[in-house]
Amino acid sequence: MIRPVQHIGAMSPYALAQLDVPAGKSLISLSQNESLRPPSPLAIKAAAAAVQAAHMYPDPEWVVLREALSELHDIPAEGILCGNGSMELIGCLTQAYADDKNAVLAPAHAYPFFRTATALARARFDTAPEEDGRVCVDNLLNAVQPDTRIVFVANPGNPTGTFISRQELVRLRDGLASDILLVIDEAYGEFADHRDAPMFDLVERGNTVVLRTLSKAYGLAGQRVGWGLFPPAIAREVRKIMNPNNISLAGQASASAAIIDQTYMRETCDMTAQLRDRFRDRLMSAEFDVPESFTNFVLIRFASAEQVKSVDAYLKAEGAFLRPQNGAGLAHCLRATIASAEDLNTAAGLLESWKKEETS
Ligand SMILES: Cc1ncc(COP(=O)(O)O)c(C=O)c1O
Repeated sequence: MIRPVQHIGAMSPYALAQLDVPAGKSLISLSQNESLRPPSPLAIKAAAAAVQAAHMYPDPEWVVLREALSELHDIPAEGILCGNGSMELIGCLTQAYADDKNAVLAPAHAYPFFRTATALARARFDTAPEEDGRVCVDNLLNAVQPDTRIVFVANPGNPTGTFISRQELVRLRDGLASDILLVIDEAYGEFADHRDAPMFDLVERGNTVVLRTLSKAYGLAGQRVGWGLFPPAIAREVRKIMNPNNISLAGQASASAAIIDQTYMRETCDMTAQLRDRFRDRLMSAEFDVPESFTNFVLIRFASAEQVKSVDAYLKAEGAFLRPQNGAGLAHCLRATIASAEDLNTAAGLLESWKKEETS
């Protein structure tokens, strides 16, 4: 039999949402942190036009997209790398800076793909405890080992939804040795831009990368466009690993157009925040435990993993899919993506009736 290399054979496939809708029910998907509405009409038009030239390879330098990002965030275009989703950038960074002789560190309830990327690079994955679902800088600094090479922090966090201040992230950077790479993953950054000043200036220190994506606030998850601001030396190494034709023509064109349409993106963030806060208020009135979120999802904490199994089965039987969080070490939690008002209303109603049955 042909065998895979050992570390791949030992890995489980990355767990995405399972959306098996029971016969006769319609799908209510609150499971993948997708945007509650399609992308900007300008992005849709740009993607359709780009397909006309689909017999040609896409721009390997992402020139138009980088220029749009550079202008929007007032950052140097040369420092920007665009990925096939920010997942590609997370994977390539890990491969470039960690291996089987060292370790990657992240908060205990971090985005599960940090662990997967670490396993792919054959490195050890260490975690630091969080404090009530919030990243704790002191715990991260205490968890650093002599062989720690990379520290990943998502801010806001997924699946926690919590946010830590710029001051705390600067304190983390200051407390880490200069030869440890800090990756600040701001996949949900647009939902929290109003909270604090941007982090891009930390990249000038030469050992910090800031990642963002078009998958969330810009509603382009299906086009697979992520990006980051990189110090030049790190960008050089990462580019050796990336697929040189990584983002399709339509992906680049729609992303560039979406970035120009800031009004639409900001409107999406406002709509999401309003629906999120209303959904959270309703669930809290029904005595669910729902921490404040700075993203396009909320985390719902239950008394036990058994309760999560029960409520998950109850919701799925009705075609409603929230996301269990065992992968992030939170087996007693479900994550609910903020979707349309109608879907949220149905999901909230189902959660309430599950609770009535559970307590009767
Ligand atoms: C924290 C975080 N980082 C990165 C990603 C990956 O996003 P994408 O590859 O779609 O850009 C996600 C997606 O859910 C995420 O939650």
